Amino acid sequence: MPEGSLKLNDLEAYWMPFTANRQFKSAPRMLVAAKDMHYTTDDGRQILDGTAGLWCCNAGHGRAPIVEAIQKQAAQMDYAPPFQIGHPDAFELANRLVEITPADLNHVFFTNSGSESVDTALKMALAYHKANGEGTRTKFIGREKGYHGVGFGGISVGGLGNNRKQFGNQLPGTDHLPFFYDRTKQGFSKGAPTTGAEAADALENLVALHDASTIAAVIVEPMVGSAGVFISPEGYLKRLREICDKYGILLIFDEVITGFGRLGSSFAATHYDVQPDLMTTAKGLNSGTVPMGAVFAHDRVHDAIVNGAPDNMIELFHGYTYSAHPVAVASALATQKLYKDEGLLERARELAPYWQDAIHSLKGTKHVIDIRNEGLVGGIELEPRPGKPTARAYDVFVNAFEKGLLIRTTGDIIALSPPLIISKAQIDDLFGMITDILKTTD
Ligand SMILES: Cc1ncc(COP(=O)(O)O)c(C=O)c1O
Repeated sequence: MPEGSLKLNDLEAYWMPFTANRQFKSAPRMLVAAKDMHYTTDDGRQILDGTAGLWCCNAGHGRAPIVEAIQKQAAQMDYAPPFQIGHPDAFELANRLVEITPADLNHVFFTNSGSESVDTALKMALAYHKANGEGTRTKFIGREKGYHGVGFGGISVGGLGNNRKQFGNQLPGTDHLPFFYDRTKQGFSKGAPTTGAEAADALENLVALHDASTIAAVIVEPMVGSAGVFISPEGYLKRLREICDKYGILLIFDEVITGFGRLGSSFAATHYDVQPDLMTTAKGLNSGTVPMGAVFAHDRVHDAIVNGAPDNMIELFHGYTYSAHPVAVASALATQKLYKDEGLLERARELAPYWQDAIHSLKGTKHVIDIRNEGLVGGIELEPRPGKPTARAYDVFVNAFEKGLLIRTTGDIIALSPPLIISKAQIDDLFGMITDILKTTD
């Protein structure tokens, strides 16, 4: 279709995800190209990417080695069935990946998205306990404000009301840890809040309530992303790990956002030095270029399930038509090489002090009531308009897009997570634009 030829009616057929469809279609925003740190709109404007697409394009856009690997693979072998047949690059990728995971997470199961990674990990937790003769452990503990994708498992362990209210909670017995953040005590923390770790002790109460013998796993995002960037208090994740160990409960880190360099290490597990039993990933795995996810399993989880099954039997009745899709695998191999060659998994650590100073310089700017940061992630919380929650942040988002900046808003929170290739000058531009916009926003 020639550029610019879409008519209003042409927008009807596509039912857009997580979008106010009627609002969007009355004033659409269209992206048609992307290179490095910028998108191009259908009217030819350059947009600085402040969100790495949707927390995923960690290597930046249109990177030649990834593009070439995808093109080459599509030409060589477009697809290979993953059940009972393999292709060598899938094994190669798994080996490359476990080189950068925390010790003992040495097994990789490929999926196509974060949501599938979460459902896969939940199933693995159940299968693990069953293999160990503890089939009564069927309940999951998530956390208020957790986002774990949109599968029925993910929305059940997730703690975002909007994502559940149309569908109900489908996993019986699922319970939730309380949220750990209190703006009056932890607001404007630079990096991890120094107080609040004791919120993890609520897990003891849930164990007392449900009994450890019924609980399979606890799942948390090591850094709360989608709900608006909340950094785990110092010591919080370690405390969760200790309580899980005490009661034989598996700990799942949902690293769909934090995986692959976002906080300045390969994974949040490494960054916080806390080892989960299962780790869910997607997004940055291949810099968002082809749908792909991966679950990393601790040896003990893998071995209990795989070595515990009878010979010649499928050990885990689970998998996807597109698990380890050759094109996705090629893109991930090229992405991982690029991360290594350019030191991108550590780059957020180098840039973090600069990023932190830049984002906290917005303290005192009109409407700003909190600022949070870690690695190359930032959250700027705005005072909501009286009686109109989300309206102010939405105006900022639309205004930023018009002025050449892509941000993400959740409620009245601006969430930032640029590609890891961002320069200091671009960080200045990004916060300069946000400051200007806030000053002129009602
Ligand atoms: C922590 C977390 N888990 C799971 C998901 C779901 O990923 P997907 O949209 O690829 O299904 C997301 C997406 O943002 C996420 O942030």
